[in-house]
Amino acid sequence: RHVKMQTACRKDIDRFNSQFLTVFESLIPADEERVKQKQLLTVLEKLVAKEWPDARLYLYGSCANSFGFSKSDLDVCLAIELGNNEKSEVVLKLADILQSDNLQNVQALTRARVPVVKLMDPVTGISCDICVNNMLAVVNTKLLYDYARIDVRLRQLAFIVKHWAKSRGVNETYQGTLSSYAYVLMCIHFLQQRRPAILPCLQAMNITYFRNVDNVECAYFDQVEKLGNFGSRNGESIAHLVWAFFHYWAYCHDYATDVVSVRTGSTLSKRTKDWTRRVGNDRHLICIEDPFEVSHDLGRVVDKYSIRVLREEFERAAEIMQYDPNPCVTLFHPY
Ligand code: GTP
Ligand code: MG
Repeated sequence: RHVKMQTACRKDIDRFNSQFLTVFESLIPADEERVKQKQLLTVLEKLVAKEWPDARLYLYGSCANSFGFSKSDLDVCLAIELGNNEKSEVVLKLADILQSDNLQNVQALTRARVPVVKLMDPVTGISCDICVNNMLAVVNTKLLYDYARIDVRLRQLAFIVKHWAKSRGVNETYQGTLSSYAYVLMCIHFLQQRRPAILPCLQAMNITYFRNVDNVECAYFDQVEKLGNFGSRNGESIAHLVWAFFHYWAYCHDYATDVVSVRTGSTLSKRTKDWTRRVGNDRHLICIEDPFEVSHDLGRVVDKYSIRVLREEFERAAEIMQYDPNPCVTLFHPY
C-alpha cells in the first residue's frame, strides 16, 4: 500500500466553515432533552435508593461527555458494594425493581461482556442502559468532558467526525470499525498535535484530580478554566481542521509503527507497547491507547478486512475535503 503524501490544503477551504458549523449545530441536543434526561435519572435514583440506600448512579458516555447528539441513549452506571453478589445478580435484581415501576421493555442482559439492564421510559421516550461498577467509563467520560471545555473546536470536530462515521457505517464495533469513544480520542490527539497546539496534554500537567479505579490510577489536571484561551494562538478554522484530520488518517499516520496516545500527548511506537503482533483477537492494525487503561488498544476490534474499509473511508473523506465542490454534503452521503 502506497502512502500518498499530499500536503497543501485547497485554497478555498474556509469557504465551507459556516456550512460545517451548521452541521454541528443541527446535531446538538436541545435543552429540553437535557431536562428529560435529568427527570429519568431522578426516577431511577429513587427506585435504586429504596433497594440499595448506599448505591449511587452516574451518567457516562455521550449523555455526559458533551459529545452526544440529540436523541442519544442514556448510559448509566450503578456504583454499588457487591459483597458476595455477582454483577449479574445485581443486574437481575435491578431489572426486577425497574420492571415493577412504569418503565417499559426492561431487559437484563446478564451474559453480555458488560452485564446491563436495558429499558425505555414511556414518559420521556428515552432509552437507557444501566451497567454495574463501570467506574473507569465514568472517569474517562469526565476526561473527555474536561477536554471539550478547553477549545470549542474539539466538540465541533468530534461531532463532524462522529456524524461522518455514523453516515458511512464505520462506527460499528461489532463490524470491526471504531467506537465513538475511539473517534473522540483521535480528535483530541489530533488537536494536541497541531502547531501551535489547540489542546494541551492534561495527563502531563500537575495533578488536580485523582481516582484509583479498579487498581488503575486516573490522574490529570482538571481545572481547565484556569488555562484561559489555550488554543487561541492557533487560528485554524473548523473546515481546515476537518480537512487536516482526514488528511492525517488517510496519508500521514504510520499504521505500521505508531500508537496514538492522548495520555502522553504524542504518538508512541508499537514496539514500546509490545503491540507488534496479534495476541488472541487483538491485531493492533490501528492503535489508539486508552488514556487510563494503557494496556487497552481501542483499535483491537479492527480486523484485516475492516482496516481496509476504514482506510478507504479516510481516503474518500480526504479526497472530498480536497476536491469536492460541496464537501459538507458529499462527506456525509450514506454508504
Ligand atoms: P454514541 O452513543 O455513539 O453517541 O457515543 P458514546 O459517547 O456513548 O460512546 P460509546 O458508545 O463508544 O461509549 C460509551 C462510553 O463507554 C464512553 O464514553 C466511554 O466512557 C466508555 N467506553 C466505550 N468503549 C470503551 C472501551 O473500550 N474502554 C473503556 N475503558 N471505556 C469505554
Ligand atoms: Mg452511547
